[in-house]
Amino acid sequence: RGLGQDPSDSPRLKIPHVSPPSLKTHPSCHQGSFPFYRLPSELGFFSLDEKRCYHGDGRRLRYLSLPVGMDSGGASLGWDLMDGFEDRYVRRNEDEKEGLLHLLTWVKENRGLLRANGRLVDRDFVSWRGHLTKILCTPYETQEGWILAVTLFKGTLYISERETAASYKRRKERTREQEKLMYSGYKFESHLCADSPDGSPCPSEVVNTNEAFCSVLLGRLASHSFLVSGEVDCKDPSSSNPSPPSCYVELKTSAQMRSPHQERSFHRYKLLKWWCQSFLLGIPLIVAGFRNPQGRIVSLEKFRTSAIPQLVRGDRQSWDPAVCMNFCNAFLSHIKKVVTTDDPRVVFVFSWEPGQDVTCTVEADSDHLVVPEWYVQALSQ
Ligand code: A3P
Ligand code: MG
Ligand code: MG
Repeated sequence: RGLGQDPSDSPRLKIPHVSPPSLKTHPSCHQGSFPFYRLPSELGFFSLDEKRCYHGDGRRLRYLSLPVGMDSGGASLGWDLMDGFEDRYVRRNEDEKEGLLHLLTWVKENRGLLRANGRLVDRDFVSWRGHLTKILCTPYETQEGWILAVTLFKGTLYISERETAASYKRRKERTREQEKLMYSGYKFESHLCADSPDGSPCPSEVVNTNEAFCSVLLGRLASHSFLVSGEVDCKDPSSSNPSPPSCYVELKTSAQMRSPHQERSFHRYKLLKWWCQSFLLGIPLIVAGFRNPQGRIVSLEKFRTSAIPQLVRGDRQSWDPAVCMNFCNAFLSHIKKVVTTDDPRVVFVFSWEPGQDVTCTVEADSDHLVVPEWYVQALSQ
């Protein structure tokens, strides 16, 4: 299938004849002052239950419950994050590619909130926070490339990730140790999250990675307005600012550091990803658990998202948050320049591999749509 088969289609499909320009990703190309970024505001939320079914409510929001004495350093930890790996673990099926499904379901059900200025969805971009995190980290990423598929529909650009061949291979060849490490991140959440604001965590619960609470927010980066959704680990019931996203908390685990070298690499690689992920949604606090080689949590530490850049500033070989945001700004501008065909059947596929520029190909009548037909119909009514 391609262009020109149906002559009536040709005038509508303005596909560029020359390949679109590429975009440089090296940090030196994106230095400068920090661009304008507005603290995102929450427009709504939704939940995914244990069967991965969508609910337009906050039923899967959980509440932070820190162990008594954490702040004084007196908490007795030693949590075994491997407990339940064999018998109390339900894993989401990663072969099922959801794309933007749940986010678009939310948009469909709340389209009244987004209609303005003569547009069905009055936003330049719609995407998952995880996709934007990958964009932010790109100038410093040396291991994993990405593929981002983009469609322009009624004036809004929808960005959805596609799994690369390398990441498919990595996923299929995951070792048992890697599986355990993944499990441990979720198990950590069981130790710190309760189902109600005054409840207690239930560390022996079944870990089911189908479940999620997702916030949907409006944001702005320079001239780009966007609607973004991301999974939120929990809410701090005692937060000094009770309005979302300021009351939300991100939970993270990392290996205990036992040498200056390990500490440096924690700052250079982990904190980069932690900062990008939480900064994008305006989540101010990260509670980190450090695990020993046996998989037990030996210490907890709070990181204020806004203070993370200062922790890495002294290291010249580390990362600069302005570079991340300037690159994101440049990439979104690049998308606006390249993706000018407003048609849900046309997909612009942006690909990137470490050390190379971002390139783009066009699928004129794609088999892998970013914006599914049900969404096109729902919004056209
Ligand atoms: P850790 O981040 O503590 O390792 P999130 O931190 O984003 O809320 O994700 C929760 C957990 O899901 C992670 O805990 C990790 O165990 C797992 N996880 C998330 N993204 C992953 C990825 N790309 N690869 C492997 N595991 C991942
Ligand atoms: Mg999470
Ligand atoms: Mg987390």
